[in-house]
Amino acid sequence: MQERINITFVAVFLALTVVHVATADESNLKEIMQELRDDSVAIFDGLLTDDFSKVARGADRIANHPQIPPAQIQLVAAELGPEMATFKQFDTSVHDLAVSIGAAAEEKDHDRAATNYQRMLDGCFGCHAVYRQRVAAVLGGAAAQE
Ligand code: HEC
Repeated sequence: MQERINITFVAVFLALTVVHVATADESNLKEIMQELRDDSVAIFDGLLTDDFSKVARGADRIANHPQIPPAQIQLVAAELGPEMATFKQFDTSVHDLAVSIGAAAEEKDHDRAATNYQRMLDGCFGCHAVYRQRVAAVLGGAAAQE
C-alpha cells in the first residue's frame, strides 16, 4: 500500500512537472527581442498618431517583458563574465526608459514620451552594437545542441 501511494505520488509529481514546463511563461531571448520590436513599432505608431493609450500599452509591455530563461542566462553569463553587469545595465536602462515613456503617455506628454523613446532606442542599439552577435553565437550554439 505504502509503495502504491509512493508510485502515485511520483506519477502525479512528474505530470505536474511536465505541465509546469509546458506552460511556464518562458520565452527565449530571441522571442523576447521579437516582442520588443513589435512593441517598439507600436509605440512609434502611437507617437505618430497621438494615440497615447497605444504608446502606454507598448511601453508597459517592454517594461514587463518576460525574463530570459535561467539556462540562457547561464550561457550568457559564462560568455560575458564580468561584462554581464554592462549587459544587464543596458536592459535596466531600456526598462527604466520604457517606464518613463508609459508615465509620459499617461500624462499625454508627447515631447517627453518621444524624447524617452529615442533614448530607449539608443539602449536597444547600444546593446546590439556590443553584444548582439556575441550572445547570438553562444545561444545559437546552445539551440543546436537541444
Ligand atoms: C541587453 C542587451 C539588449 C538590449 C537592451 C536589446 N537587445 Fe535586442 N538583441 C540582443 C541580443 C543578444 C540579440 C540576439 C538574440 C539571438 O539571436 O538569440 C538581440 C536581437 C534582437 C532582434 C532580432 C531578433 C531575431 O529575430 O533575430 C530584435 C528585433 C531586437 N533584438 C530588438 C530589440 C529592441 C526593439 C530593443 C529595445 C527596445 C532591444 N532589442 C534591446 C540584446 C539586446
